[in-house]
Amino acid sequence: MDVPVANVVVVPGTENDVVETVKFANGHSLPFLATNGVHGSISTLGKMTLIAKNGTTATIGGGIRSRNLTDALWAAGKQTVTGTCECVGYLALGGGHGWLQGHHGLVSDQFVSMKVVLANGSLITVDEKSDLFWAMKGAGHNFGIVTSVTSKIYDIQQPNYAIETLIFKGVTVDAAHTAPFKKIGPIATQALNGTYLDLAKWTGISLADVPCQKTGNANPRFPIYLKLYNATAQKPVYDLFRQATTNASTPFSNSLFMFEGYSQGGVKAISDDATAFAYRADNLLVAPLLTYTPNGTALDAFASKLGNQMRNILYEGSGETSLNTYVNYAYGDETPVAWYGSESWRQERLHALKEDFDSKGQFSFYAPIA
Ligand SMILES: *[C@@H]1O[C@H](CO)[C@@H](O)[C@H](O)[C@H]1NC(C)=O
Ligand SMILES: *[C@@H]1O[C@H](CO)[C@@H](O)[C@H](O)[C@H]1NC(C)=O
Ligand SMILES: *[C@@H]1O[C@H](CO)[C@@H](O)[C@H](O)[C@H]1NC(C)=O
Ligand SMILES: *[C@@H]1O[C@H](CO)[C@@H](O)[C@H](O)[C@H]1NC(C)=O
Ligand SMILES: *[C@@H]1O[C@H](CO)[C@@H](O)[C@H](O)[C@H]1NC(C)=O
Ligand SMILES: *[C@@H]1O[C@H](CO)[C@@H](O)[C@H](O)[C@H]1NC(C)=O
Repeated sequence: MDVPVANVVVVPGTENDVVETVKFANGHSLPFLATNGVHGSISTLGKMTLIAKNGTTATIGGGIRSRNLTDALWAAGKQTVTGTCECVGYLALGGGHGWLQGHHGLVSDQFVSMKVVLANGSLITVDEKSDLFWAMKGAGHNFGIVTSVTSKIYDIQQPNYAIETLIFKGVTVDAAHTAPFKKIGPIATQALNGTYLDLAKWTGISLADVPCQKTGNANPRFPIYLKLYNATAQKPVYDLFRQATTNASTPFSNSLFMFEGYSQGGVKAISDDATAFAYRADNLLVAPLLTYTPNGTALDAFASKLGNQMRNILYEGSGETSLNTYVNYAYGDETPVAWYGSESWRQERLHALKEDFDSKGQFSFYAPIA
């Protein structure tokens, strides 16, 4: 979606390359955009994958992807909270959900310190002694380029996992059904067991799966955080999604609907005001993901309208008074209040930090605070 246009692509080999790139861009009044993983179109900082471990922490290069980190830690009998999709970058500056968040909190809750290249090209170390550290954990993409992060790591306590996948044909599951899901009559079931390393494959987001390929498709999501499922609202959302993705002329037939219900203990154990991530009180991360081959602005507008229609039904059923969204999934038409929280103290604190560290708004291409 809305692919950024780059005149020059820089693939840094060292931390200082980032400093020099930012200084060069400033010297020539050029804008810059840092990316990793698959969220942007500019080549990643992928060479910067040095991992140095000391038992309780690991120092991780800014360009690393989830799977590389998981593998490197696993080989040492360690793990940390990493994202579920293997090709996404590790550095979840918008919060970061993962399989282990129930134990330890969000990805960003693991950060102990980070090295950051600021808008003026200064390289600084940010840790709990810096006010900026709070903002880096939830809104970090607004403040600088992280070249490395030191994160908490843990001994592997539970290597083994299992999954059972039930596939139903297209009927709406009546709220009256209280019996176990299998009694509803799935048309297929599949049970598997393995280790933590198999989870992405089971859920269709491993390196080999379609979401990790560069297909040229647009994949906008329309995320909303919810506290509870509302069966009344789920029904019209299901009907709309089914109609939109199965009619004969649909461009959206490869779409899916994400219902992510991660464990929450570790996330809620950290106080709500501890980081810029605003949505610890919510329990479910829900989003239609409309996959389509781009074909002009009319189709983009159609997708936008459809995605927002589905999200609105869930929002109306939520009883909330403001839209809560996950900034890392955001579509783009949400507001800074939806990305970073409706409390005025959050907005004020973020604005003050933005003024201190990026007053010209050079880090404002992705979900800008202002
Ligand atoms: C590992 O590094 C962290 C952060 O630099 C430090 O707090 C901790 O004491 C170190 N642990 C050991 C065992 O060296
Ligand atoms: C990261 O993982 C990919 C895919 O397995 C592999 O090709 C690449 O060499 C890895 N990079 C590093 C630095 O380990
Ligand atoms: C794990 O799966 C294998 C088949 O792949 C099966 O034989 C085994 O019983 C399963 N183990 C558990 C604990 O379910
Ligand atoms: C793309 O849009 C044009 C109309 O703007 C339409 O004629 C054409 O069939 C569309 N192509 C695909 C592949 O949907
Ligand atoms: C569930 O959604 C419906 C439809 O929007 C709404 O009327 C109802 O109040 C919601 N229920 C709760 C408990 O919020
Ligand atoms: C760069 O910006 C930071 C944060 O605003 C400031 O502390 C530092 O003095 C600036 N460095 C230079 C060289 O201007």
